[in-house]
Order: sequence, then structure tokens, then C-alpha cells
Amino acid sequence: MNETTSKATLDFSDNTPAVDIPVYQGTIGPDVIDMRTLYNQSGKLSYDPGFMSTASCWSAISYIDGEKGELLYRGYPIEQLAVSCDYMDTCYLLLRGELPTAQEKAEFEKSIAENALVHEQMQFFFRGFRRDAHPMSVLVATVGALSSFYHDSLDINDPDHRDLVALRLLARMPTLVAMSYKYSIGQPFIYPRKDLYYTSNFMRMMFATPADDYPINDVLVRALDRILILHADHEQNASTTTVRLAGSSGANPFACISAGIACLWGPAHGGANEAALSMIRQIGSVSKVGEFVKNVKDPANQSRLMGFGHRVYKNIDPRATLMRETCHEVLNELGLNNDPLFKVALEIERVALEDDYFISRKLYPNVDFYSGIVQSALGIPSNFFTGIFALARTVGWIAQWKEMISDPEQRISRPRQLYIGQPRRDVPTRGK
Ligand code: CMC
Repeated sequence: MNETTSKATLDFSDNTPAVDIPVYQGTIGPDVIDMRTLYNQSGKLSYDPGFMSTASCWSAISYIDGEKGELLYRGYPIEQLAVSCDYMDTCYLLLRGELPTAQEKAEFEKSIAENALVHEQMQFFFRGFRRDAHPMSVLVATVGALSSFYHDSLDINDPDHRDLVALRLLARMPTLVAMSYKYSIGQPFIYPRKDLYYTSNFMRMMFATPADDYPINDVLVRALDRILILHADHEQNASTTTVRLAGSSGANPFACISAGIACLWGPAHGGANEAALSMIRQIGSVSKVGEFVKNVKDPANQSRLMGFGHRVYKNIDPRATLMRETCHEVLNELGLNNDPLFKVALEIERVALEDDYFISRKLYPNVDFYSGIVQSALGIPSNFFTGIFALARTVGWIAQWKEMISDPEQRISRPRQLYIGQPRRDVPTRGK
């Protein structure tokens, strides 16, 4: 972190002496005011629930400029990565900081493939669940359960052990997601294959059966691969912050990723793609779009246009543009060009982008507006959409966890509070 020449000074209207606070500059993005010594200097705390104005850490992994509609992984624009790279390149980049050479990539993919098989004992965890259990509850439990398999061989202060954890998680996550799907529909688990690309292997584990192999279709693999790339990291969002916070105590990283999955499960975070698809289905036809959008704008009506708007992006979400393109490709490939859902989606987009309500509030389509249509066309049931998000985001969570643990200044995250309860009082004397 580079200290800037400017300093912030905090003046108080009581007798507390003014506090000079250093200001740091990142490579891009807003400067940050270093509040760490505020309490020692003034006896006061900063208050920012929801972290609206708080940088919770430094990071060199991903960067969002919400005004420009820009997302960078390790400095590279998401638009370039989505077109020129695959998910394995992206994982290598996020974990190691640079894109791999051909040899580095081949070695990386080989190690991932060799680690994809889960311990045979894992199948008994699955059998403990009801078949209709929500996939996210199964993932929270089974990813957390991995900690019971590897706890003894894990010293988080050893960089080699941390690399091994990264590999194991990245490699086993598709296997666990596919196992949770197979279990939910009562089909036998399909084991991973070493000779297949990461995403092809995942699709085969999802859709093959012992009776029928799954024919790999490059366009469909590329579409799912793109979903994985676009969701791989998104700086300090709620689930990533959860992983960092859980990890700050030195907890087992498998358990920390499980905590991240639990956070992602919430409808305000990972659940919006499912909601967007169900809204498009509910509208049902192009002729009903105008009426629906009119209702959404009515303040008396609590509903929202799902897949529109974003807390950080106040311009087009760059991931949405790429997902829209993928949507076209997948529907073309499957001969679904006249898919009524896609037509409804395009009409919603047209109507909203011409409407002053959405323009003035800077509400643009986000990635979730299109990803539900793509996943549904690929044959993924809507209650698994968030599981696919978790699969994609695992690499980001691990990269962020590794970055945090390797920081020599890392300390346990321990926020304070503004206490508004009873002041100290004595328990009244009570008769027996
Ligand atoms: N449809 C209609 N009106 C909206 C919408 C929407 N989707 N989003 C915001 N508004 C209006 C809102 O009613 C408010 O209007 P007014 O100023 O008249 O009161 C104004 O825009 C600002 O809304 P806000 O709630 O203060 O905005 P926010 O930045 O806190 O919310 C959001 C961001 C994503 C929660 C919100 O836009 C939303 O609920 N969108 C729909 C759900 C969705 O698609 N979520 C996926 C986000 S992308 C996933 C990810 O990256 O993790």
C-alpha cells in the first residue's frame, strides 16, 4: 500500500483532540482512509454496518469500476478473458497472478484431473440426505465435510499445503456438485475422468448415466465455461468476505469455503438468476412485457425487475453483455432460436432500456438476467443455478483466502459495535 501525500484530519466538537489519518492509494480505484489507529488515538470507533464505505482489506485479485461497468481479473478485462481464455486459464490466473504458459497450463490441468475423485466414503454423506434436500444445503455440508478428510495434513502456514488445498477444492468441487445432482434425481454417481477438460468432465458427471454416455458438445461446454469464468471472482462481495472472516481465525479452509457457500445461498446474493428465470417464465409472452414493467415501476407494488440493477455496477454489467452473446449461441446450437423465453427477455431489455425510470436510476441488466436462460437450455434445473455459481466462485474464494493467510500483517477479524443495550445494572434481590 502506498501512502499518499494527503492526510485526513478528523475533528471532534467535544474535547477529543483532532486525529490525523493516513490516506493510501491503490493502483486504481478510490483512495482509502486508514482507520486502524482511530480507537487508540480518540477512544472512538468507526460505524459502517454493511461496509458501505469500508475497504475491508487490500487485494490484488479482482477489481470493479461500477461507474464504467468494468471488471478486471489480475488487471485483465473480463471481456478479453471470456473470449481468449478458458476457465482453467482463469483459475490459474486468479490463483497464481499470471496467465499460464502452455506447459504450465498442461501441468495445472493434469494436477486438477488427478485430484477430482472424492474419497469413496463421501457417498455415505450424500445418502444421509433426503432426495429433495436443497442442493445448497448438501453442498454446505459435503464441502464442510472435506475438512474431516484432510485436517491432519493441513498446516495453513505452509505455502505448499495451501497450494494443495487450492488444488483439492478446485478439483473436487465439480464432483460434489454433480454428485448432489445425481443424488437428487436418484441416478448413480458418475466418476470423474482424467482425460476430459474440467467443464466437459463436469457436464458428463451431471448428465451421463451408466446406460448412456454424454456426448460432449463444444458450444455447450464453452457456454458453461463462460458462466464459470464470469462468476469466478468479484472482489469483496458477501460470500468472499465470509470466507476471509472465517479464515482469519485460522479455521480449516474447507470449512471456510463451506461458510462462503452458505452465504452465497441467500437470495440477495447467489439466488437472483433463479428468480430472473422464474420472472421471465411468469411473464410468459412478449405481449405481456409492457404491463409487467409498468407494475414494477409502481411504488405501491413491491416487485422488482429481477436481473436488473446492481449495488456496484451503475452502468451495464460487463458480464451481462457476454452472457447475452452466449445465450444466442446456445439457443442457436440447440435450434431454439425461437425460444419464447429468450424473446420475452429481449423484449424486457428493450422496454426497460428505453424507459426513463430505469435510465434515471441506472438500472441495467446484470449477469443473472441471461445466465438462467443459458443454464436452463443446458439442462440444469433452476434449483442448481446457485450450486453452479458456487462451483465457479470456489477459485475466487480460495485465491482470496490464500492472499489473506499469506499476508504477514493478517490478524483475526474482530469488529466492535455500537452498544445500545442496558448499561451496567445489578440483579435485584429476589425472595426464595
Ligand atoms: N427493478 C425495479 N426497480 C429497481 C430495481 C429493479 N430491479 N432495482 C432497483 N430499483 C429501484 C428501487 O426501487 C429504487 O427506486 P426509488 O429510488 O424510486 O426508491 C432505486 O432503484 C434504487 O434501488 P436500491 O434498492 O437502493 O438499489 P441497490 O443498489 O441497493 O440495489 C439490487 C441493488 C441488485 C439489490 C437491486 O437493483 C435489485 O433488487 N435488483 C433485482 C435483483 C437482482 O437482479 N439481483 C442480482 C444482482 S447481480 C448478482 C451479483 O453480482 O452477486
